[in-house]
Amino acid sequence: MRHPTGCHFALLLLLLPLSRGQDSGDGGSTCNRCDSRLSCNCSHGGFTRVPVVTERALTLDLSCNIISVVTGDDLAGHAPLRALDLHGNRLAAIHPSAFDSLWSLEELDLSDNRLAALHHQWFSKLAALQRLNLLSNPYSRLGSPAPFQGLVRLRRLAFGGPALEELRRGDLSGVTQLEEFTVHANNLARYESGALADIWPLGHVTLSLHAPFLTNLALASAVLADVTYPETPITLEDLHLIGNWSVQPFRDSARRRIRYLSFRNLSVSDEATVNLLVVLNGVPLTSLSMDGVTLTGEGRWEKANWTDHRSVDEFFIRDAVVLNVFRFVSFLQLRFLLQYPRKVSVINSEVFVMPCPTSQLLVNLQYLDLSDNLLTDLTLVETLCDDTETLKELRVLNISGNALKSLSTVSRLVTKFSKLTHLDISRTVYSSMPSSCPWPSTLRYLNISGAKLTTTTPCLPITLEVLDLSNNNLRGFTQRLPVLRELHLSGNKFLSLPPGQLFPSLQTLTIQLNTLNMFGHSDLQSFRRLENLQAGQNKFVCSCDFVNFLQSTLKGDGDVQLRDGEDSYVCDSPLYLQGEPVGRVHLSVVVCHRVVFVSVSCGLALFVGVLLGVLLWRLHVFWYLKMTWAWLKAKHSSRRRQKRRDVEGSEALLPFDAFVSYSERDASWVENFLVPELEEPSELDSGNPRTSRPLTLCLHKRDFLPGHWIVDNIMSAIERSRRTVFVLSENFVQSDWCRYELDFSHFWLFDGQAGGEAAILILLEPLSKDDVPKRFCKLRKLMSSTTYLEWPQEEERRAEFWRSLRKALRGGDEEDD
Ligand SMILES: *[C@@H]1O[C@H](CO)[C@@H](O)[C@H](O)[C@H]1NC(C)=O
Ligand SMILES: *[C@@H]1O[C@H](CO)[C@@H](O)[C@H](O)[C@H]1NC(C)=O
Ligand SMILES: *[C@@H]1O[C@H](CO)[C@@H](O)[C@H](O)[C@H]1NC(C)=O
Ligand SMILES: *[C@@H]1O[C@H](CO)[C@@H](O)[C@H](O)[C@H]1NC(C)=O
Ligand SMILES: *[C@@H]1O[C@H](CO)[C@@H](O)[C@H](O)[C@H]1NC(C)=O
Ligand SMILES: *[C@@H]1O[C@H](CO)[C@@H](O)[C@H](O)[C@H]1NC(C)=O
Repeated sequence: MRHPTGCHFALLLLLLPLSRGQDSGDGGSTCNRCDSRLSCNCSHGGFTRVPVVTERALTLDLSCNIISVVTGDDLAGHAPLRALDLHGNRLAAIHPSAFDSLWSLEELDLSDNRLAALHHQWFSKLAALQRLNLLSNPYSRLGSPAPFQGLVRLRRLAFGGPALEELRRGDLSGVTQLEEFTVHANNLARYESGALADIWPLGHVTLSLHAPFLTNLALASAVLADVTYPETPITLEDLHLIGNWSVQPFRDSARRRIRYLSFRNLSVSDEATVNLLVVLNGVPLTSLSMDGVTLTGEGRWEKANWTDHRSVDEFFIRDAVVLNVFRFVSFLQLRFLLQYPRKVSVINSEVFVMPCPTSQLLVNLQYLDLSDNLLTDLTLVETLCDDTETLKELRVLNISGNALKSLSTVSRLVTKFSKLTHLDISRTVYSSMPSSCPWPSTLRYLNISGAKLTTTTPCLPITLEVLDLSNNNLRGFTQRLPVLRELHLSGNKFLSLPPGQLFPSLQTLTIQLNTLNMFGHSDLQSFRRLENLQAGQNKFVCSCDFVNFLQSTLKGDGDVQLRDGEDSYVCDSPLYLQGEPVGRVHLSVVVCHRVVFVSVSCGLALFVGVLLGVLLWRLHVFWYLKMTWAWLKAKHSSRRRQKRRDVEGSEALLPFDAFVSYSERDASWVENFLVPELEEPSELDSGNPRTSRPLTLCLHKRDFLPGHWIVDNIMSAIERSRRTVFVLSENFVQSDWCRYELDFSHFWLFDGQAGGEAAILILLEPLSKDDVPKRFCKLRKLMSSTTYLEWPQEEERRAEFWRSLRKALRGGDEEDD
């Protein structure tokens, strides 16, 4: 458990006034960065003391702040807290009862602080504690009484640092059973034998013992002996193994039949390697691993060729550096070492070739991992040998992270591995796929992720159960793979899900980080067996169908589970929903049922329109409008005529005595009675020649100018007549035509052209004011203001009628004379 001292950029953050926990003035501060699962991440917050956090918090990350003290009250009330992380602060003092209320605490990290002494009381109430990290603090001893006494459930313990000098018997009393045990004791000077011996059963042990291995071999031996058990994997860190003597501490371990030995950050010479192999001669060691190893020698290890390492099953080397790479000898002498292991990994170690003769030594090899090296197509041919006998047992080949370009080369080379099931050729530079390729018939797993493929072809073996094509430039997929269970297509350019019919056995599909716009029920249904889908981080168009579908799928309806969580599904468009998690989008009815909405609103508008129309028609609004317009127009032309008359000065003489307005239906009366009577008066009737002088009448039938607008004609007729006679009857009231005339004359009258006498009403049939429809208010008004003449049905009274009419028509003249 090595903790990165990489909190230095936190210091940068401190300089910025970015402190996301707001200071509340009195020096106390709060941190509100808690998520829905009550996990509060107050890391990198610039806090100088423990901030106030909700008491319901389950995990509290206070790492990488500048807290220097934890007082007795700081964490009071945090009974539910399960995990507390204080690493990377400046803690120098912790109140003895600071953690007393944390009786649920399972995980406590105090690493990378300034604690110069441990206090046994800190941990006395933490009965639930399972993990404790005290690394990288400046205490030199654990102190007494033993600090971990009450931690009955402790399973992972890490302590020590550059200052740790002393470990005594009883320091770890109370600690009995650990899954992981880490001690940084690079500068350990005093060790009381047996101090670590009581911990059993013991899982993985990690020890940093740099100085003891150089200067105090007895101490190193004692420590190593106390933690060595056959089932306990041991990792040793920071060792510098130079000569014969520096490997002697392993003698005790060898005697205790150590089986899993790892080195991390190791520097080793040839002599030390040979002597280590000698020390481990005959030991049932199954796994030897070196992570971060510097080989200072030339690889001359054959002096140990007599030793027995038949039990070694796995060699793991990562990040190896050969100081003297040009003088490094071949491994040809290492048959005694290489013929046994079934697993060999040489990762990120600048291997550009493994010569064929070396490969031939690896007769038991089933698993070969040469990832992240410098292999090319050419050296791969050499490494895998072009014969059928080499690496016959190979089942897994991992050559990811090499500069390989030709897919047909690798396919040809691996065909001979008749047991090969896994091939990892990810992170290579394959840019195209041949149209067909040979493969071993056993191949089940193929990883070509992180290459530069743009298309797929039938080159892909149909025996595949797992295929990883993520992080390429693929746009589509058309190969049928009948037994495929897992397909990974993330990080490509897919616009839609591949057709499910191609993968009748597919159970898992990942297609994140593509350009999918949407997918739906029918897409998923085409995959008959699909259970797990990860399709987040795409460019989703949040249409109603998609949102509804996804929300129900997230809820767990349907057979397919979305494994990558609700928050990965975010709308990309429409713009107003961009960045919104699809699961939390609410689309309105207007958006979702647009057609229905539009039809309904159109229907409604139409209905309202019709209703309004009917209403207006019932209220005769159109008629009024028509009238107003006609009147305005007529006014205009009348004014024109007036002007002309003024200019011509022909004002005096009006050509007609009266304009007769009547309904067409009453034409017979007008023609048979009115016109003869007034225009051609009988001698009989006339005692007074003056009164019986013929009158000139204006009748629309006779005197209107053809081709002129009717309203104009009416207007001018009224203007050119001294009087207007209205022949009122049911017919008149019914006729639009007559209404015009009435109205014009009426406007005329009230415009003051002539006096109120200008209109004469003749009632052809008895017509009371109330029979006239209400909207003819003018006619009604006229009827009440003007006396009207009634046409008598009896013959004998008609002479009287004519006399009255003539009198009315001449009324003005007689007075003038
Ligand atoms: C808190 O956030 C930091 C980055 O700011 C992250 O490294 C850390 O893992 C987070 N801690 C938890 C418990 O999620
Ligand atoms: C590796 O070990 C050396 C001592 O041999 C030490 O100085 C160095 O810091 C270690 N490196 C790491 C990354 O721990
Ligand atoms: C290494 O040291 C041991 C004991 O100190 C001795 O028995 C052995 O012969 C030495 N081996 C070599 C190769 O010097
Ligand atoms: C071991 O190597 C020596 C040379 O260092 C050689 O003489 C001897 O034959 C080898 N023995 C075996 C068993 O390979
Ligand atoms: C191959 O190696 C890479 C990197 O070391 C690793 O991520 C991958 O899981 C390995 N593949 C297999 C099949 O073990
Ligand atoms: C394929 O390889 C990549 C990179 O080496 C790795 O991250 C990924 O997990 C592998 N895929 C599978 C399905 O193992």
